[in-house]
Amino acid sequence: MPTITLDNGSSIEAPQGKRLVLALEDGGVDMLHRCGGYAKCTTCRVSFSSGEPNEMTAAERDRLAEGGLYGQVRLSCQILCDHDMQLATINHLNGSAYDSAGTRPQDKITPEPQWTTRR
Ligand code: FES
Repeated sequence: MPTITLDNGSSIEAPQGKRLVLALEDGGVDMLHRCGGYAKCTTCRVSFSSGEPNEMTAAERDRLAEGGLYGQVRLSCQILCDHDMQLATINHLNGSAYDSAGTRPQDKITPEPQWTTRR
């Protein structure tokens, strides 16, 4: 099982292939995922210290580029847990203006992923 280590020192054992946003939420992080995991809102963003995946969905690449975020953060709804990672979560329900985290993302990556490699 991949280990997701958070920059606050805690860690989560994630089932192989689980969506990162769900691994974090199910691991007790009050993640925002306002668009339901469709690479539209960027509220699920994370910042990697190590283990940043080289693979990136086209939806993530395009959304990050639109928002001027490419190269700074990644979208946890577009990442699968297939190796150890260390990261910081950024947006949380607690302290936000939202009354819910958003619809729970599906188990599989949405939209249907078209895999690219990050530059
Ligand atoms: S971009 Fe909206 S949940 Fe990931």
